[in-house]
Amino acid sequence: MRKKIVAGNWKMNTLPQEGAELAKNVVANRGEVCSCVNFIVCPPFTHLSMVAAELKGSDVELGAQNCAAEEKGAYTGEISAQMIAALGCKYVILGHSERRQYYGETSETLNKKMVQAYANNLTPIYCVGENLQEREAGEHFNVVKKQLEEVIFNLSEEQFKNLIVAYEPVWAIGTGKTATADQAQEIHAFIRKTLREKFGAAADDCAILYGGSCKPANAAEIFAKEDVDGGLIGGAALKAADFLAIGKGFAK
Ligand code: PGA
Repeated sequence: MRKKIVAGNWKMNTLPQEGAELAKNVVANRGEVCSCVNFIVCPPFTHLSMVAAELKGSDVELGAQNCAAEEKGAYTGEISAQMIAALGCKYVILGHSERRQYYGETSETLNKKMVQAYANNLTPIYCVGENLQEREAGEHFNVVKKQLEEVIFNLSEEQFKNLIVAYEPVWAIGTGKTATADQAQEIHAFIRKTLREKFGAAADDCAILYGGSCKPANAAEIFAKEDVDGGLIGGAALKAADFLAIGKGFAK
């Protein structure tokens, strides 16, 4: 049985106190959703301590949105995997399209970040996905395959068991355009097949999340698909009620 996961990527939103409030509301109402759904929140670095304090004693877990490629030292402005782990993070989002696009993250950088994440017992939420041009050119399978091969294929079997993959078509992120449930299933099945070629049956246990304008109104249809194991949620994760309602999208 694969885990059912709803992860919130808050991006660069909320002030620390607002973030703590949001986390508090998620925890307070979490009981409305089946305990079989795993909720993860990924606030900005500056909020991690305060949010960790709100999550204490609940089953809502904490993640960060990024980590440094290096272990420690003279890297002004960077935040290490060890630092976020020390604040209670269990997860780290790596390879989000916004990081690839705006901060020039390459597979080379991401390989280093993966090393740091695993060295600190963090579970990476590794994002893949094509942009609109690539989708229109029918290149989406190749793009996603390359993003997996260049990074995920370097993991050991042990590391692979501790990995979440998120498929996020760039054209659906923050645009209000969602992939159809069939489009999501098609590429999720392709991702799983690709992972199976390298890691065998372990690929059947790997959670693959869908991301991109996922909201309460469309989550149930997308999550009903065989190879969709949950969502990585941006905008809709900023309201506790919407975030939790997305979790209700799993048929019990
Ligand atoms: P969105 O973002 O839900 O706001 O489209 C998803 C993401 O980028 O993780």
